[in-house]
Amino acid sequence: MPQADQIDPVVRLSDVSKAYRDATGLRRVLDGVDLDVRAGEFVAITGPSGSGKSTLLNIVAAIEAADAGSVRVGGVELSGVPEPASTRFRRRHVGIVFQFFNLVPTLTVRENLLLPLRLNGIADAKRADALLERLGLGDRGDSFPDVLSGGEQQRVGVARAMVHAPAIVLADEPSGNLDEAAGAPVLELLREAASRGSTVIMVTHSVAAADVAGRRLTLHHGRLD
Ligand SMILES: Nc1ncnc2c1ncn2[C@@H]1O[C@H](COP(=O)(O)OP(=O)(O)OP(=O)(O)O)[C@@H](O)[C@H]1O
Ligand SMILES: [Mg+2]
Repeated sequence: MPQADQIDPVVRLSDVSKAYRDATGLRRVLDGVDLDVRAGEFVAITGPSGSGKSTLLNIVAAIEAADAGSVRVGGVELSGVPEPASTRFRRRHVGIVFQFFNLVPTLTVRENLLLPLRLNGIADAKRADALLERLGLGDRGDSFPDVLSGGEQQRVGVARAMVHAPAIVLADEPSGNLDEAAGAPVLELLREAASRGSTVIMVTHSVAAADVAGRRLTLHHGRLD
């Protein structure tokens, strides 16, 4: 897995499928997904609830494995990468905005941002504070996540995903809990990341958010069109 400072952030999925088995039987979620995202592209993915959007992002992030098909990220086939190496790759090169935030509850807002920086050997509290300021959270650095509103937690999740300037940004409804005013700087950050050469894949239910992206795709019946 490449650990170089710079990678080609291309994301290429070919004929990817994924099914889950539960009490009701086998549920086919992704059924032949093809996706090709180049450096500097900002792609929005929409689709009905339950159509597999988060599953798709998790597969690109190597949090989950595809059942079949090829998933190449940064020029490397993910199925061939063992766990510690894929975790290192994710920490260095991927920023993930989780749909349900996944903030570390025992760390303050600022410490949540310092974590990805430290994991990358960057000790730059100013960078974390500047990003919080930009997202309208300049006075929340010392707060713990559980006292923040849903929309505030979501913006912390965005800041944490972006603070180490990852080559690949995977954002799962990053403005889903935000009004237009709070959502605008989030979308602007994602757009900027793409203009610096990162690939950005954003899941959204918002037409306005999807309009900010350069390309829009829809996931339904297990396929992306
Ligand atoms: N770990 C799992 N075990 C079993 N089924 C799962 C698992 N993860 C997801 N699923 C199923 O896969 C389908 C797709 O889920 P996913 O979370 O990817 O949808 P989504 O498009 O992100 O939906 P939403 O817009 O509501 O967030 C759902 O039917 C869900 O129940
Ligand atoms: Mg989802």
